Order: sequence, then structure tokens, then C-alpha cells
Amino acid sequence: MLRQALLAVSRSDLAERVVTTSPLTRDVVRRYVADDVDAVIARLTRDGLLVTVDHLGEDVTDRAQAERSVQDHLALLGRLPRDADVSIKLTALGLRLSEQLALDNAATICEAAAAKGVTITLDAEEHDTILALHSVHATLRKEHPDVGVVVQAYLPDARERCERLEGARVRLCKGAYTAPGAYTAPADIDRSFVRCLKVLMNGTGYPMVATHDPRLVEIASALAVLTGRDATGFEYQMLYGVRPAEQARLAGLGAQVRVYVPYGTDWYAYLMRRLAERPRNLAFFARSLVSR
Ligand code: FDA
Repeated sequence: MLRQALLAVSRSDLAERVVTTSPLTRDVVRRYVADDVDAVIARLTRDGLLVTVDHLGEDVTDRAQAERSVQDHLALLGRLPRDADVSIKLTALGLRLSEQLALDNAATICEAAAAKGVTITLDAEEHDTILALHSVHATLRKEHPDVGVVVQAYLPDARERCERLEGARVRLCKGAYTAPGAYTAPADIDRSFVRCLKVLMNGTGYPMVATHDPRLVEIASALAVLTGRDATGFEYQMLYGVRPAEQARLAGLGAQVRVYVPYGTDWYAYLMRRLAERPRNLAFFARSLVSR
């Protein structure tokens, strides 16, 4: 219930105005959002971690905003190390206006990224964007075979989706939004996650295991061994600010660990999704408001 309420609040303009203009301590936002993205990338890279960087922003409603987002992404590419990845949201590139616009904008970013040796991964957003997401991904993949895409395990067709994505770079996550018909019980989501993992690990693509859940991390590492993948054949992905000690532990064991680093001023919806994932974070959030 609390999760649903927080996700509803993440879509409310009024709540956004209230939260972003309240004396919210910088510490709460800073826990999940890089305030100096260049310094954060340099530190993570020095610590042996890989990065995927997200220039925050979503659900743009006019072409000028979508064009600004493209320019922001192009500027970002110039600042990244070669093995970096950039996570993009198609709704930031105009998907709500037209699929073709989002495709054209994403293609522009993919071309520039390829020239810099940087990969692109398309984030999965609200359920009404998922068909367009996979249609755009399929088109981009013809020119850029290494463009990645996210599958949300809470969607009941996630395993079939993984099968259709044979050979691709696929980031598997539980799913951070809500969707009609989606699994909501944690055990159902976890079972779906494992079914997807089996498909991805047994396939010929590149699995990106995006979870902080210790059981799923363990299952992924066992499946990698069983399917004969070495440490370069898949990667773990975790969010900036979430279980950093586990990120370091896995990297210390020789695993590839990529940290999702969001930055920028448009942090409201992202922060609300992080609070929804862990209602216990609300206490942290509330304390920070009170302690100002
Ligand atoms: P779960 O929520 O069960 O958490 C396991 C443990 O991790 C918790 O017990 C806690 O210790 C810790 N934890 C998890 N979330 C936390 C938080 N916010 N704050 C503090 N601790 C936390 N979703 C989506 O719909 N589309 C997408 O494109 C992406 N992209 C993406 C990229 C990457 C790299 C990651 C790691 C995740 C995503 N997600 C996403 C989000 C994903 O769907 C999911 O909501 C979160 O990862 C939380 O689920 P876990 O698998 O971590 O398990």
C-alpha cells in the first residue's frame, strides 16, 4: 500500500513542488544522486567499479525539452571513461510525443556513444511504454548490436521477453513502477527473476543482473558457474548509494560490478521510486526534514 502511494506521489506535480521546495536536506538526495558526477565516476572507477550514468529526466512533454535532453546526453558522453555505459529513458527523448522522435533521438545518442566506445542501455519505464521500448530497441540493435535494454521481472511475460532478446545485452531488474497484471508478491517477483536469469545465463547474450537482493546475487553467481560463464561473461549492477559495501565485496572477488549513477536537478521521481522500494527509507527521509 505504502509503495503504491509513494509511486502515485512520484507522478504528482503538486507533490513534486512541495517536496522539491521543502527544506529537504541535501543529504537525502545526495544518498542516491551524485552531486558531482565527474568526481563520483572517478572515485568508483578508481575503486574498480564500472558505471552506467543516468542524466536524470523523464516524461518530457515538448520537442524542445527532448532536444535539450539529447544535447545533455551528448555532452555527457565526452566526459566518460571508455568502458562506461549510459542509461537513457525514452520518455526523456520524446516517447510521449512520438515513438519515431524517441527513436531518432536515441539513434543520435547511440551513434555518438559508439564513436567514444561507450555503450547505451535503454531503461524500462511505465508499463504503457514497454511495447515502444522494445520496438525502438529492436530497430536500434540493427545498427548498434550492443545497445542494451531492461526487462522488469514483475511483468508476467518477462521470461518470454528474455527469450525474444536472445543474444542481446539485457539488464534484468525486479521493476520499480506498477503495472496492471504485474506480480506484486515478492516471492512471485523473485521466482520470475530466477526464470529470466536462467534464460539469460543459458543464452548467448550478455546478462546484467541488476539487484541488491543477496539471494538473487547468489543465485546469479551459481548460474554463471553452471552455465560456464567467466567473470567477463556477465555483470552485476547496483544503484549508487545502495549496498556500496556489497558492490566493493563483489568487485573484490573479481566480478564485474557496474554502479548506476544518476545526476542532475530533475531527481524528484527517481528519489520517490527509491523511497518506494524501501519504505524504511521514509523514516530516514522524515528525520532529515525534522532535523533541519
Ligand atoms: P529488493 O527491493 O528486494 O531489495 C533488496 C535489498 O537491497 C533490500 O533489502 C535493501 O537492503 C536493499 N535496497 C533495495 N532498494 C533499496 C533502496 N532504494 N534504498 C536502500 N536499500 C535498498 N527498475 C525499472 O523498473 N526499470 C529500470 O530500468 C531499472 N533500472 C535499474 C538499474 C539498476 C542498476 C538497478 C540496480 C535497479 C534498476 N531498477 C529499474 C530498479 C529495480 O527494478 C528495483 O526496484 C530495485 O533494484 C530494488 O529491487 P532489488 O532487486 O534491489 O530488491
